[in-house]
Amino acid sequence: MAEVATPNMREAVGAHFTPVKRMAAGAKDEATNAKLARSSIAESLRGTSLTAIGNLSNAQIAEIMQTAGQMRDMVTTSGGDELLKGKILTTVFYEPSTRTNCSFQAAMLRQGGSVITVNESSSSAAKGETLGDTVRCLECYSDVIVLRHPRSGAAAEAAAAMKKPLLNAGDGVGEHPSQALLDLFTIIDELCGAAVSAKLESEGALASALRGKTVTMVGDLKNGRTVHSLTKLLQRFDVNLRFVSPAVLRMPAEIVANAQGEKCTRTEHDMLTPEVLAESDILYVTRVQKERFDTEEAYNAVKDSFIITPETLGRMKASARVLHPLPRINEIDHACDADPRAAYFRQMTNGMYVRMALLRLILG
Ligand code: NCD
Repeated sequence: MAEVATPNMREAVGAHFTPVKRMAAGAKDEATNAKLARSSIAESLRGTSLTAIGNLSNAQIAEIMQTAGQMRDMVTTSGGDELLKGKILTTVFYEPSTRTNCSFQAAMLRQGGSVITVNESSSSAAKGETLGDTVRCLECYSDVIVLRHPRSGAAAEAAAAMKKPLLNAGDGVGEHPSQALLDLFTIIDELCGAAVSAKLESEGALASALRGKTVTMVGDLKNGRTVHSLTKLLQRFDVNLRFVSPAVLRMPAEIVANAQGEKCTRTEHDMLTPEVLAESDILYVTRVQKERFDTEEAYNAVKDSFIITPETLGRMKASARVLHPLPRINEIDHACDADPRAAYFRQMTNGMYVRMALLRLILG
């Protein structure tokens, strides 16, 4: 650390240089300092669990975004590397999953690591074992655990029982922090372009990429954990949030209350009006979460509240984008898929890069 030039040291060293040389040395110092700052942020992520988006600082999020951009380049040029060779990821999924489970596995395999998978029927949970005991056993065989569980709060409970890192892949109606990170990467990539998303070097770069953007979330905002985490993430920035849902599926009151700050503004709606559509940069569509309803009738009453069609897209800006964490049921007409604004499959691809970045930083 002795080499890090403080402003005072720079003055002293610079006294021997001509002004031109001093500038060159200053630029070099800045680059060195930036590199050191970056490595200390990366260091701060090593060995940590991610149970909620609030676990991460903006600087750590910028580091994850920047690393995800590097992962995209690496996968495009060589498919992956061997950085995580010898490391084992265990995925424990007590709820169905296609994308989250497979993208975490692919993220590990592309970095030379290995994967063990556990599901409800293969786990001793079926015999009555507590979640804490299950993860304490599994961490004996692996370096990191990815958990999906039907109960809100289960990820934090499991992480507290463990010594090794745990990543929350969705805990009931609670949170889905890695999805929020991939959503953020996608929002910036789609609205600002790959040149920006590949260079999110700092909190400041993140903030300026998001400044003034309008993000509209539509569908089941009550039960959708993806929109809970995404709101908690976006509210840190100068962003306009629009929450559109049937009255019975409104965003939880405490999340709405916090989504209004010095920078972030938010409004709630029960209709996807032409005005809301016209001002949205991102339309984030969610599935009505059937598994969270008490009765089939209650689900049927709201399941088709919002269906995005090519006509809906016709009311949106040419630069706007439609995102969806998937799976979709009825809420986006397949006829929308060919529209360049339909970004949900690109969003899924980004999920692998972001999860590669997370595993790399946490285990690297
Ligand atoms: C979401 C989830 O599981 O919360 N899916 C995902 O992880 N991509 C959304 C959903 O199931 O509706």
